Parts: sequence; structure tokens; C-alpha cells
Amino acid sequence: MTTEDAPSKTAITLCGSLRKDSINEVLRRHMSAKLRDAGVVVTDLDLADFAMPIFNQDLEAEHTPEAAKRLADLFRTHDIVFIATPEYNGGITPLIANVVAWISRQKPSPFRHAIFGVGGVSDGKYATIFALSHLRDSLSKVGALVVPTLLGIGPYADVFDADGNPTESGIQWKVGQMVKELTHFSRGGI
Ligand SMILES: Cc1cc2nc3c(=O)[nH]c(=O)nc-3n(C[C@H](O)[C@H](O)[C@H](O)COP(=O)(O)O)c2cc1C
Repeated sequence: MTTEDAPSKTAITLCGSLRKDSINEVLRRHMSAKLRDAGVVVTDLDLADFAMPIFNQDLEAEHTPEAAKRLADLFRTHDIVFIATPEYNGGITPLIANVVAWISRQKPSPFRHAIFGVGGVSDGKYATIFALSHLRDSLSKVGALVVPTLLGIGPYADVFDADGNPTESGIQWKVGQMVKELTHFSRGGI
């Protein structure tokens, strides 16, 4: 098969904040656009469409939410997963922790196909770096391959223009690096 015949790589992008004006949602949308520019077929996800109760092993014994099965399946069937998330109290958000807990219990593992990228925007000077290292560590422990670049952005005043594009060349470079790593290290045809 030549590179031209090869099927496109596929990606899902998701955001660890459900806030209406989430800055991380701006990053998620930007990464989707940049992955599309690189030839990837991207599906934009909204975690509000995957409602799950707070994970509890007793609940799990009774019933796995249909949303957890659906999301696990999307992780298994795409080549790239990009997660944009805020940092809460130096760690990951309850939304991301809950989603990872539920889908980590699904079989076969939803973490062993895609290449994962993690990024985040915060209003603090540490730019979500604690949350991103925590998330990368946690994903690695459940078998995911996470690219080396941590796309931490902050503090966030004016980092995106009105069209949602990063204003600083350093951030544009980092986004480009993330796209390169995700497209080079993943499976599929690019
Ligand atoms: C519960 C909570 C904890 C937070 N902890 C941190 C933190 O540890 N580090 C940080 O940089 N920002 C922290 N923030 C501020 C977030 O960076 C800021 O609210 C950001 O806009 C959240 O992302 P979003 O706009 O995508 O919802 C925290 C916010 C909340 C609500």
C-alpha cells in the first residue's frame, strides 16, 4: 500500500471541563482543527454526552453505564486521543478521573490502541503542568502510550485570539509539536 492509498488516521478530542466558557474547550477545538490540517479525520466529543455517575464498585457490579461502554469503544477504534483538561488543586478534574475510572474497567482495554496527547490551559503560572503529569502517569499505568509533549498553557489571559488561535509563537510551536508527535507515533495511514 502506498502512502496515498493508506486510510487516514482518526482522532477523538475531548475536554475535561463542562464549563460553558471553558478555555480548555477552546484548546480542544484548536487541536481538532490542527489535526484536521494534518490530514487526520477528527471526531469532536463533548463529555456532557457521556453522563456517568461517580464511579463506585458497588454500582459497577449492578450496571455499567452505556456511556462508559460507548466511550471505551471510541477509544478503542481511533488512532489518536487528545484530552484538553484544566488543573484542579494541582491534579486532574473529577470529570476526567471519573471517566478514566469507568472506562479503565471495560474489556478489552480501551487504552492499548490509540496514541494519547494531553494538554491544558490554566489561569495559573504553572500552566496545568501538575495535572498533565498526573494524567500522563495515570494513563501510562493503564497501558496507554502518551506522547512526550505536555501542552501546558498559562496563565491564560489573551493566549487565544477571537478565532481561538494561539497568539504566542511559543504556543503555536508547541501545538505543532503535539500534532507531529500524535501523527507520527500513531497507527493508521498517514
Ligand atoms: C476547583 C478548582 C481548582 C482549581 N485549581 C487550580 C490549580 O490547581 N491550578 C491552576 O492553575 N488553576 C486552578 N484552577 C483555576 C482554573 O485554571 C480555571 O478555573 C480554568 O479556567 C478552568 O478551566 P476551564 O476554563 O476549561 O473550565 C482551579 C479551579 C477550580 C474550579
